[in-house]
Amino acid sequence: MITRLTLVNFKAFRRLELPMGPLTLLTGLNSSGKSSVVQSLALLRQSFGPDRATAPRGGLLLNGELVELGTARDVLHDDFGPADDLLATQAPVVGLVVEVGDAVRVAALYDAEQPDEDVMEVRVSPELPQLLDTPFQYLHADRITPAVTYPRSRQVAIDRGFLGVRGEHTVNYLRHFTEREVPEGPLRHPGAASPQLLDQTVAWMQELCPGVNLQASAIEGTDFVGLSYGFGGTAGINATRRRRPTNVGFGLTYALPIVVACLTATPESLILLENPEAHLHPKGQSRMAALISAAAATGAQMIVETHSDHVLNGVRLAVKRGDLRPEEALIHFFQGNGSGAEVISPRVDEDGMLAQWPEGFFDEWENSLDQLLD
Ligand SMILES: Nc1ncnc2c1ncn2[C@@H]1O[C@H](COP(=O)(O)OP(=O)(O)OP(=O)(O)O)[C@@H](O)[C@H]1O
Ligand SMILES: [Mg+2]
Repeated sequence: MITRLTLVNFKAFRRLELPMGPLTLLTGLNSSGKSSVVQSLALLRQSFGPDRATAPRGGLLLNGELVELGTARDVLHDDFGPADDLLATQAPVVGLVVEVGDAVRVAALYDAEQPDEDVMEVRVSPELPQLLDTPFQYLHADRITPAVTYPRSRQVAIDRGFLGVRGEHTVNYLRHFTEREVPEGPLRHPGAASPQLLDQTVAWMQELCPGVNLQASAIEGTDFVGLSYGFGGTAGINATRRRRPTNVGFGLTYALPIVVACLTATPESLILLENPEAHLHPKGQSRMAALISAAAATGAQMIVETHSDHVLNGVRLAVKRGDLRPEEALIHFFQGNGSGAEVISPRVDEDGMLAQWPEGFFDEWENSLDQLLD
C-alpha cells in the first residue's frame, strides 16, 4: 500500500506531501489539485506499469491510455524550485515520490530545449515497475453515458481486467466475468441472489435504485456488447420487460463502472475514483461510500476524489460501524486553488467524528441554513 505520495514541481504543486491510507478522500474547491494527485499515480502506472504503451520503458509518458497531460511545459509547475533531494542537478525536475515502506523516486528532467515533448527523460528507482504490478482501476470524472452498445475488447476487459478510464469496458467485463465470485468478506452483498459478480453488481445497484436488475450480453456478429435493465416487482409493470440504457435513469449507467470497479477489489488493488457520487441521489451517494469503504476493508487501496458530503459522511459511518479503523480513512481538504493550494487533513475518530472542521470544508449546509433562518 502506498503510505505517502510526494509531488515536486508537478502541475499545481511546488511540493506536496500527502499521507495515503486504505481509503483516502480528496476533497476541496474546483481546480485545487485533487485530480492532479490522482493523475500523478496514473502517470506512473502509464509510464512504468505492466500495460505501458511502449517497450522498453521509455521515460515519463505524459500522454497515453490513462492520462493526457500535454507537454513537459504543461506539467512542470509554473513556479518550480530546486529538487536537490531528488536529483543532483540544477536543471528543473518534476518529481514523483511514492512510499511503500521505502521511498520509490521518479525524477523527470525538464529539458528547456524541448519543452513541447510529451515524453520526459527519467531517473527511476529500479523497484518501481514491481510496485506498480498490481490490479488497477482508474475511473475519470467523465464516464460512459447510457448507450445502446459498448466496446468488446478481449485484451482490455478480459486479459487485463481493466474497465477503461471512462468505464467503457465495464459491460464487456460484466458479460465475461458474470459468474466470477466476489470473495467472502465486506464486499459481498448479503442480499444478493448469489456471490457471483453479476448478482453482486445487481444487489449493490439496488442500493442505488431498488428493484433494478441488469444483463450484459454480446451482440452477435459485431464487436459490441449491450446492456439492458429490468425493474422487477413494480405493480402493474411487466417485470420481464427489458429496457435499453437510454430509456432508464442516467445515474444508473454512470454509477455502474464505479460499482463494478469496487467489486474487482482485491487486497493488492489500487483503485482511483473521481466523483463516484456523480448523478446519484443523496442516499445513493451515501451507499456508494459504503461500497467504497467495503472495498478498502478488503485490503484494496482506494483513492477517491469527491465533492459529496454524503460520500464523506458515508465513510465516517463506515468508521463508526467498525467497517474501517479510524486510521484507515484519511481525508484531505485542498484549500485555495492554482499555485496556492494548501492541504488540511482532518482526522476521523472511532465515532466517525472529525477532529477539526476547517472553513469551506463541506460547510455550505450550515452557511445556507444560517441565511435561511436569519
Ligand atoms: N504547470 C502548472 N503550474 C501551476 N499550476 C498548474 C499547472 N498545471 C495545472 N495547474 C493548476 O493545477 C490545478 C489543476 O486542478 P485539478 O484538475 O487537479 O483540480 P481538481 O481539484 O481536481 O478540480 P475539480 O474539483 O474541478 O475536479 C489548476 O488550478 C491549474 O491551474
Ligand atoms: Mg478533479
